[in-house]
Amino acid sequence: MSLHPIFNIKNGELYVENVRVMDLVEKYGTPLHVISSNRIKQKYGELYSASTEYWKNTLICYAYKANPTLAILKLLHGLGAGAEVVSAGELYAARLIGVKHDKIVFNGVSKSPSELSDAISVQVGLLNIESLTELKLINDIASKLNIQVNLGVRINFDVPVRTHRYISTGMKFHKFGLGVNEAFEAYKLALKSKRIRVRGIHVHIGSQILTVYPFVKASNNMVSFAEKLYETLKLRLDLIDLGGGLGIQYSLEDKTFSSQEYCKNVFPIITEKIGTIFDDESIIILEPGRYLVGDAGILLTRVNYVKQIGDIKWVLVDAGMNDLIRPALYDALHRIVVVNKFDLPSVERYSVSGPICESADVFVRDYPLPKVDIGDILAILDTGAYGISMSSQYNCRPRAPIVMVEGEDVKLIRRRETYADIFMCDLNYR
Ligand code: LLP
Repeated sequence: MSLHPIFNIKNGELYVENVRVMDLVEKYGTPLHVISSNRIKQKYGELYSASTEYWKNTLICYAYKANPTLAILKLLHGLGAGAEVVSAGELYAARLIGVKHDKIVFNGVSKSPSELSDAISVQVGLLNIESLTELKLINDIASKLNIQVNLGVRINFDVPVRTHRYISTGMKFHKFGLGVNEAFEAYKLALKSKRIRVRGIHVHIGSQILTVYPFVKASNNMVSFAEKLYETLKLRLDLIDLGGGLGIQYSLEDKTFSSQEYCKNVFPIITEKIGTIFDDESIIILEPGRYLVGDAGILLTRVNYVKQIGDIKWVLVDAGMNDLIRPALYDALHRIVVVNKFDLPSVERYSVSGPICESADVFVRDYPLPKVDIGDILAILDTGAYGISMSSQYNCRPRAPIVMVEGEDVKLIRRRETYADIFMCDLNYR
């Protein structure tokens, strides 16, 4: 295996940055999430410099759903990131760590009235609507609260992307956004409201996208649509929100694109129109989640048993689909390394599975690894995005802790849940 970006090898042992992985296991136990702070900084830095090379007013709003651990949010906030939030809970987190209201983008296909009230009261920088009814509701709430809303419209341009069908979002049979005709109607109506500042246009076509072409297509669609807004309504938008979706390399066969390539292909489509159909001081917003944190994280797990049934050799570990649901839900491949045998050749093929009472609880099938024994420590790679955020306590399993590594420093940023935590909200059982 070529060395993963967060790993180092010292004295024949595996390190995350400058911390020996086995030391983390000894100190914190397993399952354990580890996140590399320097990798997040590097990814943010690359995207920020690539984008600002093309347009100075770029705002990277980290998509909280990828991993809303507060220390990670704080790290990205410190780097200058804004927040892309899709619930009042994520908005709460952004406020908690001190993200300025105008650096928050609030999205969501089915926002409740109370979530809209929260977003409006906070005066988020951009509130993107996904239906005409939502627009009416926002107008009513904003009038009642006497607050001006920065409004955008998420448009569904029917752009296909090649990714898992559960995370493709930009086609007309998906629930997301407004179709072009309804979107036009929404802008016309919004312009009539005294409580609404019509500022934004938004697309998000899906997640884990591995080529720039769909982003180019979506951006061209945005520009054509904005041209129509300018020509017919004299509307010049100033918040151009390109969404997230930038893919990362999970398997060695995944060919990704660099942030440079993304910006080089996508930004000029927009920037060419700034000063004409878009406002001179326009801000280009990006909403990456996975790109920033995905390959910064690993999940460490201990082998409880090795057994064979028929032809299949099972490695049974102490992490399960409750810790990382991506393989079960999307058939996603996360590479696995045996930490204490990382330099041994792969001589066996195993299916690696967790303790959950479901046959979907399998991380990899027929996967080449060195001979595995009880007590070995496996690292499941690239779990920084949509790992802990989609985790659950299924089978009454406490969620795993998270440590953040920076150089030689280790910080526990989320403690292991206790059994009491699992039942914390239960009532009336005595
Ligand atoms: N913006 C919006 C409006 C979104 O819906 C999403 C993700 C993002 C930004 C960030 O997308 P990213 O840059 O992370 O691709 N659980 C799935 C991914 C679901 C993504 C949902 N929306 C997975 O584990 O692959």
